[in-house]
Amino acid sequence: MSLPPGFLDELRNRLSLTDVVGRKVMWDQRKSNAGKGDMWAPCPFHHEKTASFHVNDKDGYYYCFGCHAKGDAITFVRETENVSFMEAIEILAREAGMPIPERDPQAQKQADKRSQLAEINEAANRFFRLNLSQQGGAQARAYLDRRGMKPETRERFEIGYAPPGNALLRALKDQGISVEMAIEAGVVAKPDDGRDPYDFYRDRITFPIRDARGRLISFGGRAMDSNARAKYLNGPERLLFDKGAALYNHGPARAGCGKGQVLVVAEGYMDVIAMAEAGFDATVAPLGTAITERQLQLMWRMSDEPVIALDGDKAGLRAAFRLIDLAMPLLQAGKGLRFAILPEGQDPDELIKAKGREAMQEVLDGALPMVALLWRRETEGKVFDSPERRAALDKSLRDAIRPIADPSIKGHYGEILKDMRFELFRGKRSEQQGGGGERRAWTPGKGRFNGGRFGKGPAVPTEGLKASLIVSGDETQADLMREAVVLAVLLKNPGIALDFLSQLEALQPRTEDHAALLHALLTHAEVEDADELREKILNDVGRGPLDRLLSHPHVQITPPVRKPDREVAQMCLTEELAKLKARRGYKAELDEGLVDLLAAEDEKVTWRLRQAAEARNKATKAEAEDKTEFDTAENGLELSRDERDAFRALLNRIAPERQK
Ligand code: UTP
Ligand code: MN
Repeated sequence: MSLPPGFLDELRNRLSLTDVVGRKVMWDQRKSNAGKGDMWAPCPFHHEKTASFHVNDKDGYYYCFGCHAKGDAITFVRETENVSFMEAIEILAREAGMPIPERDPQAQKQADKRSQLAEINEAANRFFRLNLSQQGGAQARAYLDRRGMKPETRERFEIGYAPPGNALLRALKDQGISVEMAIEAGVVAKPDDGRDPYDFYRDRITFPIRDARGRLISFGGRAMDSNARAKYLNGPERLLFDKGAALYNHGPARAGCGKGQVLVVAEGYMDVIAMAEAGFDATVAPLGTAITERQLQLMWRMSDEPVIALDGDKAGLRAAFRLIDLAMPLLQAGKGLRFAILPEGQDPDELIKAKGREAMQEVLDGALPMVALLWRRETEGKVFDSPERRAALDKSLRDAIRPIADPSIKGHYGEILKDMRFELFRGKRSEQQGGGGERRAWTPGKGRFNGGRFGKGPAVPTEGLKASLIVSGDETQADLMREAVVLAVLLKNPGIALDFLSQLEALQPRTEDHAALLHALLTHAEVEDADELREKILNDVGRGPLDRLLSHPHVQITPPVRKPDREVAQMCLTEELAKLKARRGYKAELDEGLVDLLAAEDEKVTWRLRQAAEARNKATKAEAEDKTEFDTAENGLELSRDERDAFRALLNRIAPERQK
């Protein structure tokens, strides 16, 4: 089926996302504002009592603050009805009263063929499972027993056994399935040299591979005989099975992510199974090849920060280093990777068997951000005792981050790497004066990231790294303070968040404290009583972030924090949010500049930074001259007329307070 030009736009225009979503959720009437197209409901993608699922009807997008599910009407129908893109469009077009484009007969035939092939795989799967339970499966059962795979687990993962010879071929023939179709499905092999077709999996444990929707697309087969020509056989690539676009355990892992589990990416079938047995349901594995771009995209659709579980040996690290290069150009705000490094020579299956789930949890907790692994790749085993070598490091770092497309992310990488480099060279100087020449490099597997996983070397300043995840400097201090004021005002003036929802959603808090507080405040935006709100926030984020927030003297003297007052609070939020917004343009520009600072400080850079500084000055000139505050606002801070009037009316009330 091909869509006529403009079809999707027309479809989106005709539909109201509120209507589409409304059939699956109960709107929270108090929190929602139907007039503004601002709708809230308990999320249909994860279990919750509060309404953290938000629909922006105007833009046609939804977002859940709890499980981060997001998308448009088409995504919503795909995810809730479990249908394909085209099927979702058909459903929606019917609803919108639009003519449904003719199904391309060719595509229709392919779709029919796919389901037939999946059916053949199902037949093969039944055959393999039956075999495992029968007499011929005794050795296979003993093998699984030896490996400690529980009977429930065999059921859950539909483990089977493919007998030697051509038993499957015969069984399929008996069911009226043609050899050609069995070959096309991938369960029967066809030799090139004209010999007879034969069973693809022979004397192997079978692992059915299903796509996200549960369709049986292929199998993995493990030899029990250590002399077999390959330990694992993955099915051949056919119409149904595209190795680079499939993940083992995709569907269950996605469900696990929906329940808030962290997505873990392991290397093999047995790792996924051992992880699931240990309670880490959200685990997937690629299928016998290195992780591909398409697989990365699939993972990011499930989770913002998949954790790659790596064997701590050379091969594991090499795979991770390659993955960094694959991921760099694809990074987007909020989407990243972490790397959990296992003890050398162990995979998750072995670690869990040897040391239990706690040991695995510990490894996951110690997962490194990608930038740390990048640093390791570029510095490990190297000595930087000459200007030339240091310049070479700078170049390799620049080269590594150049493919990052998102300027803000690139800026943060530049900043963090700069700090690490500074730390490394500073460490070296004193070191070398004292005796010199020692190889300073990252040592694998020693210590931990927060407090020393980076081991012996000075390579990663742990505290410094943490701090520099936030861009340092006065600007940041000012922004942090503004964020704190916004959060405290929201806290002390329950209900007011509802007036600023879209701006608050757009806010990207700079600290974990702030992010957690904002999330909690938005989640409980409908609470009207101050004590109740405080109780709920305490419950969600704990005492620490709350105490830290309210301990800032600047926050304490903010009028609507000291003395809650809806109007004053509104005024204050309008102002602070507008300033934060104005600043962000400046920040993105500055970040790009920082990347360049890793290079030479050439004219272009100074020019760019000056431009950015001027833009910033324009935006915040207001701070110096109280009166011009809303002139600035009129100069592009996008205040509505009403907001401006409110501004004027209340300025006098606030101004005396601000003088203190
Ligand atoms: P490993 O060799 O690490 O095996 O291969 P494993 O997962 O630890 O398996 P067990 O514990 O020995 O049973 C990791 C993955 O690489 C692919 C498979 O997908 C396997 O799960 N692989 C491995 C192959 O495709 N072919 C092979 O011959 C070996
Ligand atoms: Mn293994």
